[in-house]
Amino acid sequence: MNADSGIPAPAVPEIEWAELLEAARAALAHAYVPYSKYPVGAAALTDDGRVISGCNVENASYGLTLCAECSLISSLRMTGGGLLAAFVCVDGAGEILMPCGRCRQLLYEFRAPAMQLMTVSGIRTMDEVLPDAFGPQHLEEQEKA
Ligand code: THU
Repeated sequence: MNADSGIPAPAVPEIEWAELLEAARAALAHAYVPYSKYPVGAAALTDDGRVISGCNVENASYGLTLCAECSLISSLRMTGGGLLAAFVCVDGAGEILMPCGRCRQLLYEFRAPAMQLMTVSGIRTMDEVLPDAFGPQHLEEQEKA
């Protein structure tokens, strides 16, 4: 319950970090990385409680490589949409990896309010890993002008 308004606050799913780490590590098995030999697994909790995951998929035309976060976001859309409440990605050794800059932007688009990321420096918010981000709000501002 929201103390001020009496309106029930939206239910925020409980973040089970161990479960997310396990899902990210399991996703490594699906990575297609013949060129870099650097598998990445990603997992997230959606705002309606689903656990989704993704892996990187490389291409002979190297620049076309899809990061693990790309397949995770596709999975988000393909399995019911919604927003990301929590996220983690891991390297081939199963250790926590920071999402690359491009992927921070991908995640930003689908962040739930107060989304959390497990990072090499602890649990962080999206604002902390991508400060002053460009986002849909900028396009909306332009439409209004
Ligand atoms: N990679 C990801 O999948 N996500 C990241 O956030 C960092 C990089 C992948 C892309 C490429 O297949 C491999 O890691 C080496 O760059």
